[in-house]
Amino acid sequence: MGPSPSKTGESPTRRYSIDPEEEILFGKSKPRAPRKVEAFDKLVVLGQGSFAKVILVRKKDTGKLYAMKILKKKDIAKAKEIEHTFAERMILAESRHPFLVNLEFAFQDRDNLYMILEFANGGEMFFHLKQDGYFNEKRASFYAAEIVLALDYLHSKGIIYRDLKPENILLDRDGHIKLTDFGLSKYNFKESKGAKTFCGTPEYMCPEMLKGGSYGKAADWWALGTVLFEMITGLPPFYSDNQQVMFSRILSAPLKFPPYMSRAAKSLLFGLLTRDPKKRLGARSVDEIKKHKFFSHVDWKEFKKRSVRVPFVPKLKSDDDISYFDPIFTQKTAIESFEEKKMRKKRELAPTSYHATSGDPFVGFSYGGSPGSMPRIMEESIPHDVEERRRRMEEESSSPPPE
Ligand SMILES: Nc1ncnc2c1ncn2[C@@H]1O[C@H](COP(=O)(O)OP(=O)(O)O)[C@@H](O)[C@H]1O
Ligand SMILES: [Mg+2]
Repeated sequence: MGPSPSKTGESPTRRYSIDPEEEILFGKSKPRAPRKVEAFDKLVVLGQGSFAKVILVRKKDTGKLYAMKILKKKDIAKAKEIEHTFAERMILAESRHPFLVNLEFAFQDRDNLYMILEFANGGEMFFHLKQDGYFNEKRASFYAAEIVLALDYLHSKGIIYRDLKPENILLDRDGHIKLTDFGLSKYNFKESKGAKTFCGTPEYMCPEMLKGGSYGKAADWWALGTVLFEMITGLPPFYSDNQQVMFSRILSAPLKFPPYMSRAAKSLLFGLLTRDPKKRLGARSVDEIKKHKFFSHVDWKEFKKRSVRVPFVPKLKSDDDISYFDPIFTQKTAIESFEEKKMRKKRELAPTSYHATSGDPFVGFSYGGSPGSMPRIMEESIPHDVEERRRRMEEESSSPPPE
């Protein structure tokens, strides 16, 4: 069963079709969407994940900048990723939220699929964490609050995000977060059925998934706990260079906090990193998270309107300033030779769910429009691990990618 188009029609102005020849339209007054890669000038590579390459492009007729996500059909088919790619494209087309990256157009040619996304100029949270080491709790709570709103929105639409991590959390030009990369998201999710696909990024995977059972939206709240811990300390809570060790720590190691962490932060992390998904904070309602004392200063309505002062404003010299993107990518040529080897710092695990499709599996891709057990709290300093991670990051950024 491939992803089916949504029938919810959130907004009355939206309609769409998956007819291969027809584009998805948001309202009648929109110009026809570009269907060709030639409509854009390619400027520079912004990033590369497991399957995709993302390039900064300028639309030739309007001069507007976008991030073009390119997936090579051959790779997707080989990696049994077709269903996930369609889910990504559907989720992007249907979602409009201040803290999610917006899909402007999608099209394809013989070899590739293209998604034209709004450009998030502020770069990955990973980049900022690498630069700063860690964030103070005020800054971390600001990003965490915006992530809560984004995840809650996705959950309300029957979507589990499944890949929350600093590489997929971008900053826009104003310093607000934008989640990108719905390539592993579960679409049409029903909590009663649960999800079973083993996928995600090792550091952020929840215990119930590692155990091989089914899981639900609480998987995203576990990942939020992991990312929040990482923002405050510089490292995910159960991090190890050895993946098996890390998995076993996620399943059973005691949760340790550095002494400088506030009581409120520890309490929230204790709740989010509860191994039993039914007892995890957020499992019953997002309000459990929103009302937590760590967020007592957050006016959720104002946050949603983006009218709160951001803790950090990206310093951009121009619209096409790419100084918040890793030179490892931006110094590459923007020609999409997909022959290069993968060069990501963290390996994403390929999802295992794949359902054979007959005929052209990419029909309907094109789009146009705009619109366990409780962890034990232990006080312990963790500077050793932070140092270890910094070293790891430095080694990675100083060694050239394999060509
Ligand atoms: N809209 C965007 N604006 C700026 N950079 C982006 C955007 N989307 C993706 N990127 C960059 O490209 C990288 C890879 O994109 P992503 O969608 O995460 O691909 P993958 O599915 O291969 O992980 C991101 O981590 C980020 O650095
Ligand atoms: Mg990604």
